[in-house]
Amino acid sequence: MKAVVGLLLMLLRVSHGVEIYCDGRQDGAQCYGALGGTVVLRLMDSASEITKYRWKFNTTVILNGKTNRIDSNLIANRSVFTPSKGTFRINDLSRTDGGVYTLETFDSSGKSLEPRTLQLFIQAPVSSVLLVTECLSQGEMRASCSSEGGDSPQYSWTLGGRTLTHTELLSGNHETNNITLKQHVSGRLVCSVKNNVSHVSKEETISNCGFIFINCTLCDGTHISQWVFAANNTLCIESTTVPTTVRDTTVDNSLLICALRASVAILSIIGITVYFIWKKKKLGKSEGSAIPPTPEYPDNSVLMVEMRNSTYEL
Ligand SMILES: *[C@@H]1O[C@H](CO)[C@@H](O)[C@H](O)[C@H]1NC(C)=O
Ligand SMILES: *[C@@H]1O[C@H](CO)[C@@H](O)[C@H](O)[C@H]1NC(C)=O
Repeated sequence: MKAVVGLLLMLLRVSHGVEIYCDGRQDGAQCYGALGGTVVLRLMDSASEITKYRWKFNTTVILNGKTNRIDSNLIANRSVFTPSKGTFRINDLSRTDGGVYTLETFDSSGKSLEPRTLQLFIQAPVSSVLLVTECLSQGEMRASCSSEGGDSPQYSWTLGGRTLTHTELLSGNHETNNITLKQHVSGRLVCSVKNNVSHVSKEETISNCGFIFINCTLCDGTHISQWVFAANNTLCIESTTVPTTVRDTTVDNSLLICALRASVAILSIIGITVYFIWKKKKLGKSEGSAIPPTPEYPDNSVLMVEMRNSTYEL
């Protein structure tokens, strides 16, 4: 039934309002009419073979007829009954048109046949939809959808043509009017608002709020794993900071960098220490040599001192 109404809604939407076809030939039908729009009620196949009939709204008789002749129509100014098709078209629907419509028929002997009824509900159609998005402090995106005019609006969201999932939603669900999307989400966001007589949607192409996910370990051992605003970020910049969905494959090479830094520092300290030790030893040797040794080989004495000193270097 709903599918039929939906299809007809699409086919029959006219500039003056929504026209909805309501087939009540199966007893007990429930239909919706749009406020200000038109409804086509059908409770019989054709009036051509019916000797006498009358339409009632709640308890009031609104139309009387015999075969192809209409005797009276209480709402003739805004309705048309077509006997050959058995359709009763009512225009300019107001809220007071909502209620139970009953068709009573009589055979040629005046005997009353089984009446048929349908219930009509009137709803105001959704007239407009507003979609507002904003970035929150941690890079999440809040999307608010609001509608005007419609009775009992129902909201739904899609992203890139699909229903929103848990991996994209931080709060709300795909049927609430306000949702919060996770940091990496981007694409064509559509908010649809519908009720039984209308369906309106609004779309916006969203991009993420400029946040990236960083995941690294600082040299002091602090593990950083969070979303940061890319343009202001100074943390973990050596590591590969890939935003978005490929988070899991982010390579954390910060430990390697820490190790390299530590090696450089240690090597520097060793170098400096060795240098000072050498400096000190050299000084000590020079003092010790103040009294020149007995020159056994006078010609080579200077060279000897130099050679002894150089052994300390090694
Ligand atoms: C017709 O009946 C419905 C209940 O079925 C009621 O809500 C509505 O007010 C009635 N309308 C009139 C005009 O009597
Ligand atoms: C949705 O957000 C709007 C404005 O941001 C607010 O007025 C409204 O109350 C919210 N609705 C719900 C159901 O939280």
